[in-house]
Amino acid sequence: MVRKAALFAALTDDDVAALRPMMTPARVGRGDVVFREGEQGDRLYVITSGKVKLGRTSSDGRENLVAILGPGEMFGELSLFDPGPRSATATAVGETTLIGLGHESLYGFLDGRPAVAQALLRALARRLRRTNDSLSDLVFTDVPGRVSKALLDLSARFGEPGDDGLLVAHDLTQEELAQLVGASRETVNKALADFAARGWIRLEARAVVLLDVDRLRRRSR
Ligand code: CMP
Repeated sequence: MVRKAALFAALTDDDVAALRPMMTPARVGRGDVVFREGEQGDRLYVITSGKVKLGRTSSDGRENLVAILGPGEMFGELSLFDPGPRSATATAVGETTLIGLGHESLYGFLDGRPAVAQALLRALARRLRRTNDSLSDLVFTDVPGRVSKALLDLSARFGEPGDDGLLVAHDLTQEELAQLVGASRETVNKALADFAARGWIRLEARAVVLLDVDRLRRRSR
């Protein structure tokens, strides 16, 4: 299970044996908060099943989602490398299982294991690229373009081939989808309804079926 996570793909059997005593498994349900923005962080988490949303709240109480992560992905690593308060609140989107790893023991583990340290750096670099892309999209791309990008992004993580398209069981409410896109619920709903009317997608409860991925891809550029 641990090796499936990109972060630990390079581990040897001995590495896994050394890491096991440091791992704390946890199970959380929809809406459970793993940690809150601003708290002191002492732990990194790897998702083994389910989904976690990472959200930031503005001073006037509005929420923005910086990422929805799925199996094999990690979170809580920023306060490992740059000790300080959590930069986002982590909340389970559905039934989710996690493995927690204390920062201190992970530091010791990384000593003498450059391959694992490199995998962590790679994951951080990938995250920075994504964040830069999202920032540019917020400035340069209209809401329908961002919605279409978000759907494609969710499909890459959670999509499964169905009878007539790619079923993406994202488990998100319309409000959460809007927070991910960085727009109002009304504007995001309008874009979704327009895509559905064109036959590009079919909307289902907390899921969407992508019927025309090519058109969505073109709309996201
Ligand atoms: P940490 O700051 O310890 O706690 C919140 C976590 O959210 C953070 O570590 C990262 O793991 C994750 N996170 C913060 N910002 C982003 C982002 N832009 N993209 C993906 N994950 C993020």
